[in-house]
Amino acid sequence: MENKKIIFSGMQPSGIPTLGNYLGAFKNWLDFQDKYNCIYFIADMHAITVRQEPAKLRKNIKELFALYLAIGLDLDKSIIYVQSSVPAHAELSWILNCYTYMGELSRMTQFKDKSQKQGNNIPTGLFTYPVLQASDILLYQTDLVPVGEDQRQHIELVRDIAIRFNNLYGDIFKIPDMYIGKVGAKVMGLQNPTKKMSKSETDNKNNTIYLLDDLNLISNKIKRSVTDSDNEVRYSEDKPGIKNLISIYSAITKKSIDEIEKEFMYSGYGNFKSAVAEVCVEEIRPIQQRFNEIIKDKAFLEQSMKEGYEKANNMANKTLFKVKRKIGMI
Ligand code: TRP
Repeated sequence: MENKKIIFSGMQPSGIPTLGNYLGAFKNWLDFQDKYNCIYFIADMHAITVRQEPAKLRKNIKELFALYLAIGLDLDKSIIYVQSSVPAHAELSWILNCYTYMGELSRMTQFKDKSQKQGNNIPTGLFTYPVLQASDILLYQTDLVPVGEDQRQHIELVRDIAIRFNNLYGDIFKIPDMYIGKVGAKVMGLQNPTKKMSKSETDNKNNTIYLLDDLNLISNKIKRSVTDSDNEVRYSEDKPGIKNLISIYSAITKKSIDEIEKEFMYSGYGNFKSAVAEVCVEEIRPIQQRFNEIIKDKAFLEQSMKEGYEKANNMANKTLFKVKRKIGMI
């Protein structure tokens, strides 16, 4: 690989990604491809920390892989692979479990949130999830991890584990930084614009735009989105619905908030919503076209996954072997 910094990120195959994932993460991943050595993975081992239906998980993995390619991630520029195909993740994860403290993991707010939903039988994997995440990142000598604010605590723990290990055994791991970009678009729910748009929405499907939703449905969801009643297209904290639509429109068209407010000053919400719907549909249309082609081509998908596995596996094993040697394994 060329001498560029390494970017590492990924997503769980737990349902179809949303417009929020696209504008908040995927679009940045695309931009990184020319400036960095990028590694993007599908975190299927993380996904099984909550129960998954096997057939559905398999489908989700394939679809997410195809979607990575459909949005424009490029196999010639980036390494794209499925986590569970690279055994080093599980191996390093076990080792790092022995260098991570119960107290540290107990403080993770994501664990507290997710475990509350599990009743009395909380899978241990949910508890050690951040250790697996540390293995993901550290195996590839990652410089930068672009993730949302909700992952900050995990990334800090990854750094702590890496520093602890290096203090004991020498410079084994690169200490990664969280990538803090220009304010990436944070897309809120369409029905509940005070909360982030979520992929795992169960109550109200109209709250979320999935990238593989029918294009008419996407348009309708936007037109039906919740807004206030003063009919003025203005970017303001007390107008969360309109503020969200302005952010979406701005992220796609690259127009500034000012420009957008001027453009729609006299047009009312109806016309503005139609305009937002249109740019969303036109942004997503070609992605869906490419997705439909890729998902049909089983041989190509399989070959691409294999290629990703081989490249990732080689890189990961280099770090893993170093680690095993250092701690005294043969
Ligand atoms: N925890 C991340 C999430 O829920 C997914 C993830 C797992 C990840 N391992 C990672 C992201 C390593 C970046 C780097 O969004």
